[in-house]
Parts: sequence; structure tokens; C-alpha cells
Amino acid sequence: MPLYSDKVMDHFRNPRNVGKLDDADGIGEVGNARCGDIMKIYIKVENDIIVDVKFNTFGCGSAIASSSMATEMIKGKPISEALELTNKAVAEALDGLPAHKLHCSVLAEEAIRAAIKNYYDTHGISYDPALFPEPHDEEE
Ligand code: FES
Repeated sequence: MPLYSDKVMDHFRNPRNVGKLDDADGIGEVGNARCGDIMKIYIKVENDIIVDVKFNTFGCGSAIASSSMATEMIKGKPISEALELTNKAVAEALDGLPAHKLHCSVLAEEAIRAAIKNYYDTHGISYDPALFPEPHDEEE
């Protein structure tokens, strides 16, 4: 069996939603200290819906594929749904990632959360801090 699914290869080779939003309402940047990869996600929000999302990822192919898939999964969705997106769901949507690459999908989950937190903070919207636990450094 190949190490990477067709979906991973597709989203790596033709990533969706790459770039930046100049008028973003929220920006989330996270990194993984071990591999040094960095992911930045921009969201545009209207009436609690993520109407647009873009990403810039300086990292491995799995991180790029995870960012691409994760942005597709939250685009047009309410913030409440985006907050429920787990790295597991992203990895499953990609038809799986090798075990040692699961942390790459964690970056996508964390970057989305960070962007939503930034949106709340910069727009004076109150929220339950428990929604945003400190990012964890995923074990390999
Ligand atoms: Fe670090 Fe993939 S190896 S995000």
C-alpha cells in the first residue's frame, strides 16, 4: 500500500485555498517545535459563518494537504462547526495519514482554532476560554 492516499497527494499537489486574505477577520499561526513547520490560516467571517478562508503553510506535504482539506471543511460553515473540527476528522477526510504524520493534521486543527480565537479577541466577542486550550506538542 502506498504511504500516502490519493487524496493526500491530490491536496498536496493542488492545494485549495492557498494564499492570504488582506481583509481577514481572524488570523491563526501555529508551529510544531519538533519539525519546525508553520501554518497560518486566515478567516473572513460574516454573521458567524466562515465565508472565506486561506492558508499559508511552510511545512511538509502532509501539513499542506491537511491545511488544504481543513480549509475546505470549514469554508461556508458556522464558527461553531469549525471549532468542532478535529485533526482526526481532517486525517480521515484525507483517507488517512501515516502515524508519524498525524501531528501535521494537528497543526490544521490548531491553526483554525487560533484564527477563531483571534477573531473573537479582535472583535470584542466574549467566549469560554475552555474552548481554546493551549496548543499541545503532539507526540510522534
Ligand atoms: Fe511537521 Fe508535517 S512534518 S507538520
